Amino acid sequence: MRHIISPTDLTVSELSGLLELAEEIIESPKKYADVCHGKKMATLFYEPSTRTRLSFEAAMLNLGGSILGFSSADSSSASKGESVADTIRVISSYADICAIRHPKEGAPLVASLHSSIPVINAGDGGHNHPTQTFTDLLTIKNLKGRLNHLTVGFCGDLKFGRTVHSLINALARYENIKFVLISPEELRIPNYIREEVLEANNIPYVEVKSLENSMPELDILYMTRVQRERFFNEEDYIRLKDIYVLDAKKMTYAKEDMLVLHPLPRVNEISTDVDDDPRAVYFKQAQFGVYVRMALIMKLLEVM
Ligand code: CP
Repeated sequence: MRHIISPTDLTVSELSGLLELAEEIIESPKKYADVCHGKKMATLFYEPSTRTRLSFEAAMLNLGGSILGFSSADSSSASKGESVADTIRVISSYADICAIRHPKEGAPLVASLHSSIPVINAGDGGHNHPTQTFTDLLTIKNLKGRLNHLTVGFCGDLKFGRTVHSLINALARYENIKFVLISPEELRIPNYIREEVLEANNIPYVEVKSLENSMPELDILYMTRVQRERFFNEEDYIRLKDIYVLDAKKMTYAKEDMLVLHPLPRVNEISTDVDDDPRAVYFKQAQFGVYVRMALIMKLLEVM
């Protein structure tokens, strides 16, 4: 039995297999319409979500399985003080696989230690979001044709952004990747990413403040939201929230084949005048999330 807690819980070779299966599903979805018949997925969401929870549920339904779960801590017995460990012990007898999102870093790992079904981390605090990373990798591979030889810019909240931490971790394993980390001083990447991922693996990176100046060299621009829910101080949030806004004018500085990704939800950081630019692929990216989660469920349940 496997759990997916970190994006590097899959080897590069296993990840290739996952992305290939996702692309086969895109080509021939009907072939997979019944492979999880009789299987149940529990979605245990202690924190709000639109894409992750609903794409997991759509994925399981597309595979012919069933779903159960809760969408907030308030509607579960966590509100009465039940621990994640006790919850997962019980859910293990109700479902065959589960996805868990929790505001506390490490909660999905704790769940996996007490689970007798595969546990997938659907986002833990500011730490990791592995299935968003698999979604991002599928988007880049499918639309760019490669996962190596890329200059990737991350812009916005690089401190609390779990999607950023996970994707840097995953991309650092591919050849000739360079990172351009665009943020204000207060929202720079955490030290453990700088030291244990980038410097430990000799990955070239620069930390800069200007989005405009960085645009011309990027193959991928990964925009992120400044997350109100991760700030301790409302004043800091207000001061930083609109620091970067990608708009149609800034897109004129970018390569003709640069891709703009965003894990969504967006607030103001991408102007709607970018949405019709063919390089803006964030809604397609959200759609890819269903296919990669179908592939992941199949791999973890060892169906087919
Ligand atoms: N990308 C993402 O995690 O979106 P949700 O918070 O809507 O699940």
